[in-house]
Amino acid sequence: MDNFDKKNSSDGSKALTFPAGFLWGAATAAHQVEGGTNNDWTQWEKDNAERLAKEAAGKWQTWQQEKFPEMLDPENYISGRACDHYNRFEEDFDLAKSLDHNAHRFSIEWSRIEPEEGKFDEQEIEHYRHVLQALRARGMEPFVTLWHWTNPLWLEEKGGCESKDFACNFAYYSQYVVSKLGDLVNFWVTINEPTSVISNAYVSGNWPPQKKNIFAAQKVYRVLADAHNQAYVEIKKINQKFQVGFANILHFIEPLNSNSFFDRATAKVFNYFVNRKFLKMTKNNNDFLAAQYYFHSRVKFPGKIKNDNKIISDMGWEIYPEGIYHILKNLKKYNLPIYVTENGLADVADEKRAEFIKNHLIWIHRAIDEGVDVRGYFYWSLLDNFEWDKGFWPRFGLIEIDYKTLKRKIRPSALEYAKICKSNEIDPPRVDERLSP
Ligand code: FCB
Repeated sequence: MDNFDKKNSSDGSKALTFPAGFLWGAATAAHQVEGGTNNDWTQWEKDNAERLAKEAAGKWQTWQQEKFPEMLDPENYISGRACDHYNRFEEDFDLAKSLDHNAHRFSIEWSRIEPEEGKFDEQEIEHYRHVLQALRARGMEPFVTLWHWTNPLWLEEKGGCESKDFACNFAYYSQYVVSKLGDLVNFWVTINEPTSVISNAYVSGNWPPQKKNIFAAQKVYRVLADAHNQAYVEIKKINQKFQVGFANILHFIEPLNSNSFFDRATAKVFNYFVNRKFLKMTKNNNDFLAAQYYFHSRVKFPGKIKNDNKIISDMGWEIYPEGIYHILKNLKKYNLPIYVTENGLADVADEKRAEFIKNHLIWIHRAIDEGVDVRGYFYWSLLDNFEWDKGFWPRFGLIEIDYKTLKRKIRPSALEYAKICKSNEIDPPRVDERLSP
């Protein structure tokens, strides 16, 4: 840890300092916060809200149903006006600035920009120009996602992610947006979490278009990789200086029994399809790696996933900070700058969030210390928001939203995170938080 300053605490332990210029912020996505969208998800929500509310009782544990009774209400599953961030982005960025964020990730809603195929809406470009100007005015570096899962309706009619036109339509739209807004942006994230779409929409069949078809899943892998590759070329044609990547959800996958050859082999196969395949398919077309970490899985031959889930979020997701360290170490071989573009948890009571952030950052710092080039961290999410097929009940925000009044309230953990953002360092870990060698 020679390259970084260390500050001594009273017991002699050291503060962990991050590299100069480290980006600190939070992320959102258009459909989850803006409100008033009209895309394939909007449509799907209307058709499925009743069913999702009915199914919730069988899906979630009793404590979750008691804690979040709104999950039984169909209204929970309609994104509607969401956080009205479309109209309140300045207020939200004021809050982010007051929390010492120096960067922010958000997505542009394709269906607003290109409501009909080939017809672009200049007013919506103007809207996002104001969003970007608002960030710049507050000293926040924007990370702009071009596709965070939602498709315009005309594209959905052509088959959505399975359409043979998806890739060139996406590249065309990307080229348009970047040529209009590129003066305000350095970092472009083309596609958000391709493997989440593939697994949830085409393998488990929970998300629109709810297919359970391995051939469709393979096709979408190719389509999304092609979309990224084509968009990459178009964006770089506009300006070589742009930094372009895609957001990759990375699961920390371990064999349940490391002595078992079969468990180890199973872990390798999972690791390939979940974490590495898309990177391979987009080789040479990434200027940085955008890593997103939520999940730790222990796999057992022939493929059963078993988690301890001892410490969990409101959604029952295991909290396992060490996983981010292994993920980052595995990315070192690509020799590219890395930004953690999402990491967060649902925690309505805000009991675990501050520790969650701190512990993940301790492990990220350790990876940096060991030579991994991590340059930024974006907590998911700035605001409570609409969590896809789960709706509004999971509360991921640094800022709480009262969905009745749309009032914003900063959670205590956001203030703890703000201290880290401001000082660019974490207080010395307590003895029980120190990492084993
Ligand atoms: C990620 C998604 C993001 C949000 C978080 C909780 O996989 O990119 O939109 O839903 O999970």
